[in-house]
Amino acid sequence: MGSSDLLTVVLVVACLTISAVLADSEDNGKLQCTCNNDKSTCVNGTCRGDLCFYTWVKGHEERGCFSQENYKEQCYTSFERFFVNCCRENWCNAYTTPPPNINPTSPPEVYRPELWITLSLLLLIMIASMCGLVLFLRFRRAHGKLTNVEEHDVTMLKVPNGDDPTYGDIFDEFCTSGSGTGLPYLVQRTMARQISLAQCVGKGRYGEVWRGTWMGESVAVKIFSSRDEQSWFRETEIYNTVQLRHDNILGFIASDMTSKNSSTQLWLVTHFHELGSLYDFLQYSSLEPEGCLKMCLSVACGLVHLHTEIVSSQEKPAIAHRDLKSRNILVKRNGQCCIADLGLAVIHSQSHDYLDVGNNPRVGTKRYMAPEVLDETIRMDVFESYKQTDIWALGLVFWEITRRTIVNGIVEEYRPPFFDMVPIDPSFEEMKKVVCVDQQRPSPHNRLHSHPILSAIVKIMKECWYQSPPARLTALRVRKTLSKLDHDSDFNIEKLKRDI
Ligand code: ADE
Repeated sequence: MGSSDLLTVVLVVACLTISAVLADSEDNGKLQCTCNNDKSTCVNGTCRGDLCFYTWVKGHEERGCFSQENYKEQCYTSFERFFVNCCRENWCNAYTTPPPNINPTSPPEVYRPELWITLSLLLLIMIASMCGLVLFLRFRRAHGKLTNVEEHDVTMLKVPNGDDPTYGDIFDEFCTSGSGTGLPYLVQRTMARQISLAQCVGKGRYGEVWRGTWMGESVAVKIFSSRDEQSWFRETEIYNTVQLRHDNILGFIASDMTSKNSSTQLWLVTHFHELGSLYDFLQYSSLEPEGCLKMCLSVACGLVHLHTEIVSSQEKPAIAHRDLKSRNILVKRNGQCCIADLGLAVIHSQSHDYLDVGNNPRVGTKRYMAPEVLDETIRMDVFESYKQTDIWALGLVFWEITRRTIVNGIVEEYRPPFFDMVPIDPSFEEMKKVVCVDQQRPSPHNRLHSHPILSAIVKIMKECWYQSPPARLTALRVRKTLSKLDHDSDFNIEKLKRDI
């Protein structure tokens, strides 16, 4: 081999080595980051993305990559109980730790001399100030000038009580710090991965609902079936962009998407209500008229909140649910209900002039479909139309609740709406025949007419079932009428107590 051949070999080897190194460190301009999550993108502790991230939520750490530039604003968040940090160099997240004020239990960073110098200086200044203060006080006392100590201002220091946080605490901490809606996505995902699933409490075409525990508290985890992923996207989008904290709307905690054995798992984490859905509750419980009124009123309050656009600093678009039914309503321990499942919801803002109907191939539940949906005359470009279909379904829910209400010692078995007119799992055509062609409606039991509260609720439900959608009551009207009944019944009870 001549010297020129040797030179060529050396050059080729050098080029190959350099290109291998470059290929290793850059993949289409992507960074390599340390990861410890179970995503398919994390291979041997390394992933590739536009940014490397590190999250710390109450002791649980996660490292990984993400590609969406629009997550950038999620990156530099830090509160008492969580810390998020992103960086833009290869493996830059490998040694990130939360600052000591966030994680008081993290070990001191002995390898940072500047930290030690700063701390020593601070200590020196503190000792010097204390000595100065002692000398000053002695001097003052010696001159008899110290007045009543209680007259001096005392700054109260807030000391953490050491209790474990609830997810409510974490939300409050974030929300009172000026944030709009939910927690940052990275925090949601870290929280979701700290959940252990305890027991399956529901199963259906939509997927499964589990009771899980997070930091010792029960949470509900809805695991969406892969064919209903659009509902997960829609619900996640709505909870993360709309201010929806309301007593009668199911409380959102987190959304998470993970890859497991090359399939995608979609989770929605919410408050857990041990009494389950209104449908489940009505199977085994009956109500007194006052309890029935309270339930109906709470559902109406939730629906008013959804349907109402708020135009102020706490802006909120109007939302129509489109799948209101007893299975999508949960019963709370205080006897009130909250509305769940926003997977099909449509959003409207008059002030910002938009109507967003989403792109979910799912349709509502046939049994609860309004006549205009069944005969396909609904005006799908008009937001009011969707609210009017919610009102139809609201009337059906009220009918289900009133059947289980005891009046004159009589109560009926639970039955779904139209149980005596269509079969189980009715077809679209079967529903259309009953609701549009024959114009049939569920019939309230005679006993209800003999009770003032129930006869008023029967009147409301009938006004929710007009064939003509604009003739139906609005959610606000339903709420106002029920509120008045509630006040009157409280007043009558008080009066009765006084008379006795
Ligand atoms: N079933 C469906 N969602 C639920 C929840 N959030 N709590 C309890 N049971 C449920």
